[in-house]
Amino acid sequence: MNKDIILEKIKQEEKFLPEPRVTKEFLTKALGDALKKIDRLIDDMKGDFPSHASENNVYTPVKNESGWNTGFWSGMLWLAYEATGEEKYLDAANGLLESFYERIDKKLGIDMHDLGFVYMPSCVAAYKLTGNEKAKEYALRAADHLMTRYHADGGYIQAWGKMGEQLRLIVDCMNNIPLLYWASEVTGDSKYYDVAYTHAKTTIEYIVRPDASTFHTYFFNTDGTPDRGTTHQGASDDSCWARGQAWLISGLPLSYKYTKDSSMLPLFDKITSYYLNRLPDDYIPYWDLIFTSGDEPRDSSAAAIALCGILENISNMEDSNPLKETYKNAADRIMYSLYNSYSTKDTPESNGLLLHAVYAKPMGIGVDECNIWGCYYYMEALVRMLKGTKAYW
Ligand code: GLY
Repeated sequence: MNKDIILEKIKQEEKFLPEPRVTKEFLTKALGDALKKIDRLIDDMKGDFPSHASENNVYTPVKNESGWNTGFWSGMLWLAYEATGEEKYLDAANGLLESFYERIDKKLGIDMHDLGFVYMPSCVAAYKLTGNEKAKEYALRAADHLMTRYHADGGYIQAWGKMGEQLRLIVDCMNNIPLLYWASEVTGDSKYYDVAYTHAKTTIEYIVRPDASTFHTYFFNTDGTPDRGTTHQGASDDSCWARGQAWLISGLPLSYKYTKDSSMLPLFDKITSYYLNRLPDDYIPYWDLIFTSGDEPRDSSAAAIALCGILENISNMEDSNPLKETYKNAADRIMYSLYNSYSTKDTPESNGLLLHAVYAKPMGIGVDECNIWGCYYYMEALVRMLKGTKAYW
């Protein structure tokens, strides 16, 4: 499926050297600092959810009534519970579940494809960690709703808008379809798996360009035939939005986890080499990979997302693949940079975890702010690196 996509050689091997290694002490300190901010968020949110992006690095509370990102706060609490075993995180995470049930019952802002982002780090996490059957039932209802967005003619899940409008998929959805793979696992019904796997193959076919960069979105014609790739949050239709590339770096190994489709492994190397080759000296990308130096804002959230994908993929790789060492070293370099230069450890006024992220630069939304998925994936990376866990996808 990826025969025409090139594998770039890693251009600056000296950027991905093994030393210094991230140590257990380093990660323990970083996790401790992150937990202090989570404690503060529990107090500040009072049972509601951090807004999608901060203002002046401070999140304000919002209700769980719309949008694609409320699952991340829930996921941070489950990660904190898994990492520490402390009841206060369990109680806070459980306390949020009712609002996820209500969103399904009242159909609040669920006509979108982001049901994986919303329901995996909340209800699926609750089911996986505590066996909560009600949470499982609601996650399955979210999966059923996601199934209604599938276009069988084009083999893709429609991202945005009412069904039949905006006939397009977006690269981010590779992180929503694990909800469907999971639904097949727990129900034994292969229909969810079939839709997820078909969507993954369609995404790979059309979103990835021959140079291993990605379109953010891809349109289809009304008969399901492919139309064109465009951007929504990137610099231009033919540039590569950094978070879009990161979504594929994190989403592809999740599809591999469920399908064991071996053609996904060489594709991972191609898209990840493209990404690593465009990182500035501190390993945190600009908001679009077209920029490799200068004053454009960085997107630390893209770095944290890509880091989780690299960590997930390392466990799938043969030792004989020379990129395995590069990825291990890259993971350490990215984590060092995130903690030392992008975390809020020296920003007492912030209730976020990770500074200097971008939500949507073309629209001027959340530019050079914390965003809640950046904070979530930073926490996921810390817990993965310290405890060897794999989160809830
Ligand atoms: N999934 C939406 C975004 O990454 O901004």
